[in-house]
Amino acid sequence: MERGERGHVLAVPYPSQGHITPIHQFCKRLVSKGMKTSLALTNFIHSSIKSDPSPFVPLETISDGYDSGGFMAAENIHDYLHRLRSVGTETLAQLIRKHQSSDNPITCLVYDPFLPWAFEVGREFGLTVAPFFTQSCAVNYVYYLAHQGKLRLPIDGLSFLEQQDIPSFISVPGSYPAYFEMVLHQFSNFHKADFVLFNVFQKLEVEETELMSKVCPVMTVGPTVPSMYLDRRIETDNNYDLMLFDMKDSEFCTEWLNEKPQGSVVYVAFGSMADLSRAQMEELAWSLSNFSFLWVVRGSEEAKLPSGFLQTVDRDKSLVVKWSPQLEVLSNRAIGCFVTHCGWNSTMEALSLGVPLVAMPQWTDQPTNAKYIEDVWKVGVRVKEDEESGIVRREEIEFCIRQVMEGEKSREVKENAKKWRDLAMEAVGEGGTSDVNIQTLVSMVKSLKQKPSLQAS
Ligand code: UDX
Repeated sequence: MERGERGHVLAVPYPSQGHITPIHQFCKRLVSKGMKTSLALTNFIHSSIKSDPSPFVPLETISDGYDSGGFMAAENIHDYLHRLRSVGTETLAQLIRKHQSSDNPITCLVYDPFLPWAFEVGREFGLTVAPFFTQSCAVNYVYYLAHQGKLRLPIDGLSFLEQQDIPSFISVPGSYPAYFEMVLHQFSNFHKADFVLFNVFQKLEVEETELMSKVCPVMTVGPTVPSMYLDRRIETDNNYDLMLFDMKDSEFCTEWLNEKPQGSVVYVAFGSMADLSRAQMEELAWSLSNFSFLWVVRGSEEAKLPSGFLQTVDRDKSLVVKWSPQLEVLSNRAIGCFVTHCGWNSTMEALSLGVPLVAMPQWTDQPTNAKYIEDVWKVGVRVKEDEESGIVRREEIEFCIRQVMEGEKSREVKENAKKWRDLAMEAVGEGGTSDVNIQTLVSMVKSLKQKPSLQAS
């Protein structure tokens, strides 16, 4: 076999749980199709892994310039992103160079478009380059329009999106300027990429993928939920195995759920980053006390629980943990609904596992996902904030939970949830749209020769 003919994909995620998981999962799909694939993490993230990562996706490291503290060691978001770019560019180039003398050098770079500088590095080495968007096509189309200076409501083709539904970096001007700049920069060079990958499936976002296809070569490759929860073709892909949070507190979740009646438990989790106000935590806590619940309250959020609340939690009825095995939880028959912040991974997991949702978006892409959950896919309801305080009151949360767990609305939501689950399975199953796209990508990368490069020796 000629040098370069077999191909080797290097994937580079943005260093946070919600971005590492889908790209890592995508790597497993590539490996299952015979593609050599490695994953590059920052040194800090690499040293923070709390689980046994898949032996089939070798890990490599680059640096964000904060090897011992990561994001938390930076002064602010702007400084972090700036250093990530400069040190990341240098260390990614070193990593690719290191592999050039191996018998299977890197030929394709899959990168998170939150890191658009990775594109430049890949091109310098003559690699095939493909951004992997970890958020929905709708959200990215809105950002694309904003980048082009063409965002006006109503949006042609997505006229149902109102101000409150568009990503918070836009609808709340000035809220996170550095992140806003980052999401717009995704589109600075993406049209020059060889493929543009999206963690969605085609039937989930028909119009959105069509709109996006007019500006770049879209390839839908999701959902990235482990194979054993969907098509069951990859036996070794039975869990997320690159976790940055300690699982020891949550080992008994499944055991506890197994004792509960079908559809009786409210699962509540807000992903890896959400930062609820003390007042919001209080409303949520007291609304939940009317149900049997399993609530993930990360260590950093615990102090915001109302005083005395934990003492009122009867372990036979309810459980509060620091981190849960979310896939196992969502697939447990005891779960009746999922109160979620609508992070894209949590949303895709619920759709893939057929779980009804109560949408409680916090920031970034979550308001858009919440709109789709309620009005487009119709798999849940979205809570309404109190207009004056911006807080979602306990009565409203309780009302929404009852809507998706009991009565007329719940029947419709459950039927739709099942429909989307079937379509998600179809997409990644043999011959499904995502499966075919992944196979096409693999075949192309395997047959491509390295392009002429400036730095390849
Ligand atoms: C971030 C953004 O906030 C989100 O809006 C964006 O779409 C992706 O990046 P995050 O807030 O962490 O992600 O939310 P989400 O996308 O839902 O990802 C959380 C992941 O952690 C999911 O894969 C979920 O299964 C996992 N998780 C969460 C657990 O395994 N256990 C938990 O207890 C909570």
